[in-house]
Amino acid sequence: MHPFLGNEEDDTIPKKAGGAGKRPPRLIIAAVNPILSISRLSKTYASGLHALDGVDLEIRRGEIFALLGPNGAGKTTLIGIVCGLVRASGGEVRVDGRDIVADYRATRALIGLVPQELTTNAFETVWATVSFSRGLFGKPPDPAHLEKLLRALSLWERRHSPMIALSGGMKRRVLIAKALSHEPRLLFLDEPTAGVDVELRRDMWALVRSLRDTGVTIVLTTHYIEEAEEMADRIGVIDKGRLVLVEEKAELMRRLGTKQLTLQLEHALEQVPAALAGYRLQLAGGGSELVYTYDAPGERACIARLLKDLDAAGIRFKDLHTAQSSLEDIFVQLTRTGSPP
Ligand SMILES: Nc1ncnc2c1ncn2[C@@H]1O[C@H](COP(=O)(O)OP(=O)(O)OP(=O)(O)O)[C@@H](O)[C@H]1O
Ligand SMILES: [Mg+2]
Repeated sequence: MHPFLGNEEDDTIPKKAGGAGKRPPRLIIAAVNPILSISRLSKTYASGLHALDGVDLEIRRGEIFALLGPNGAGKTTLIGIVCGLVRASGGEVRVDGRDIVADYRATRALIGLVPQELTTNAFETVWATVSFSRGLFGKPPDPAHLEKLLRALSLWERRHSPMIALSGGMKRRVLIAKALSHEPRLLFLDEPTAGVDVELRRDMWALVRSLRDTGVTIVLTTHYIEEAEEMADRIGVIDKGRLVLVEEKAELMRRLGTKQLTLQLEHALEQVPAALAGYRLQLAGGGSELVYTYDAPGERACIARLLKDLDAAGIRFKDLHTAQSSLEDIFVQLTRTGSPP
């Protein structure tokens, strides 16, 4: 855990709902009282382009939610609306139960944003940039908090450098420090690791996890599917302004992920024998490989039977291996066809 992150409890509930001191389990609170609640959100830009079209989404307290989608899908627009940078054309957004338009200052103070585009004053120092950000939210100066933040992001040695003298990866870390300077409860990371080297990407993942461990809710967009696969509790896929899927990552992988068993045959076949027609089998490698595709748990149980039936049919194999479809395969299918594979 990073030292600057403290140990604040975010999900305290009002006394009247909580009863005599006994707190309901965290999961129940998370389900009934989402940190972010978006309903029927739409955005039509002046050009007439429908960037968002009736988006409904709830973000649970303390989760890491990854929003995936191709270029132009509407991810940055959605984040921009929640952060008050883009005006919605319709719908409603609530942060911690409060409307973002009617209660702008209070809701905005709960949010941290690491924007997709790097925009900072080139000649300002790292320290000035980050402390100014905190001040914007009306928080009193807290040099000790900023020091912990800069140390945790390996920026402390560079605190007197002007922004212009930093590398791209360092600038991105300054943006993260800025976004965390006022101790937000909900952090948006819009492609936080675009153009960042592998090592720094791993550091950022660790940082995001440690933030989550202290109760900060995280919504990130990414084009690196492995990032979502590695980090997210839930995944949303947006395409052409519509949310086409929201699901637990583990459930998504279980439901949509298919597996393949490939058998390297001793003798090539010209066609799948009729006796094996009940299995999802295909020949590959010019008949020298037999590929069995299975996804449902029931089909998995068929492997032993398949091997017996192969033996009975006189089909021998010299080697076998299995492969599992990745989140990337699932994502490509979803955004190409608009429906799950
Ligand atoms: N200020 C704007 N004026 C007009 N159209 C815009 C504006 N900002 C975004 N758009 C359009 O809205 C659509 C959604 O853009 P958005 O930036 O939200 O996509 P994105 O999912 O973040 O894409 P990327 O992965 O490339 O960052 C795009 O077609 C984009 O061209
Ligand atoms: Mg974007």
